[in-house]
Amino acid sequence: MPAEVFILNGVHLGTLGQRRPEVYGTLTLNDIESLLEDEFPTVKLEFRQTDYEGEMVGLIREAAESDGLIINPGAWTHYSYALHDALETVIVPKVEVHLSNVHAREGWRRYSVVSPVVDAVVAGMGASGYVAAVRYVLSR
Ligand code: DQA
Repeated sequence: MPAEVFILNGVHLGTLGQRRPEVYGTLTLNDIESLLEDEFPTVKLEFRQTDYEGEMVGLIREAAESDGLIINPGAWTHYSYALHDALETVIVPKVEVHLSNVHAREGWRRYSVVSPVVDAVVAGMGASGYVAAVRYVLSR
């Protein structure tokens, strides 16, 4: 059976390509998904994006049966204890990804409530951050 990895993108990430390209790049979420499919043709990649926090909680739970979970929670990163609690209970390799270097931006972006409940964090690598994250979960 091929490895199955969930790639979850949260609030506003559906607008990539149009949203502040100087910060988040010019690729759309579809472009990033195609890039990952090309990079990992033998992996079953489950792509999901939602702007609804409760729906994201459900998706995190769904990923509990998979081989790994990669999440870019968007702004929820900085305040969602609901996502923290959902991630805490899912015991698969987990990576938090940010396209931008959140540490070089506004002070409130430096703090993540989800970092304590994931295995690794990638920030500032743009779309390559997702590639690195998939490689990491496959290596575990
Ligand atoms: C982001 C960083 C967050 O601070 C922001 O709210 C986002 C995107 C990133 O990918 O760089 O929506 O997660």
